[in-house]
Amino acid sequence: MKGMVFTEFMELVDEKLSPETTERLLEMSDLPSGGIYTSVGNYDPQEMVTLVTNLSGMTGTSVPDLLKTFGRHLFKRFLASFPEFFEGINSSLEFLPHVDGYVHVEVRKLYPDAELPTFTCEVPEPGSMTMTYESKRHLAPLAEGLILACIDHYGESLEVRSETIASDPPTTKFFITPKQT
Ligand code: HEM
Repeated sequence: MKGMVFTEFMELVDEKLSPETTERLLEMSDLPSGGIYTSVGNYDPQEMVTLVTNLSGMTGTSVPDLLKTFGRHLFKRFLASFPEFFEGINSSLEFLPHVDGYVHVEVRKLYPDAELPTFTCEVPEPGSMTMTYESKRHLAPLAEGLILACIDHYGESLEVRSETIASDPPTTKFFITPKQT
């Protein structure tokens, strides 16, 4: 997992909780990297699991909820750092299929060692989408946070429901549909 994901995570904890919380979290986590990440370095994804699990123990917030919040934060960072990926795109249903087909392809060119998930999008009917996430890293709630932030970015009234559909490889299907009022 790229160091930038870890540095963004620390920044979020600094911001939403406190720098002291980040410090305590690193102390208790006893990470192989020592908790020192450079944005281009690559680190064991297990370190993220350790950090999120320990933060959950410290705060009482569940691991999936923490990952969802982190996904929302990451989306804003991606938007600010890579505006070119959003040029000419006017809705989440237009953007989301580009993640696998274009965005992550470009990410892989920039960082050949990136560990990226696979997404398959389908349009069951106009205005809805299913997005199937497959990754050994078990980060479906992170993907959900990213998708939710993407919907908010375009100011849309869509909701997301998720279903685990396989465990090997871990696969989650997101159903993105108009919000029922
Ligand atoms: C809503 C849109 C997006 C979704 C749902 C998404 C999903 C994900 C997920 C779930 C991961 C974690 C790795 C895994 O689960 O295997 C990931 C990693 C990553 N994504 Fe995306 N992504 C999105 C948009 C973007 C954008 C716009 C960028 C901008 C460049 C980006 C760049 C990256 C990078 C750099 C990583 C880290 C790879 C690594 O740690 O080695 N993603 N993405």
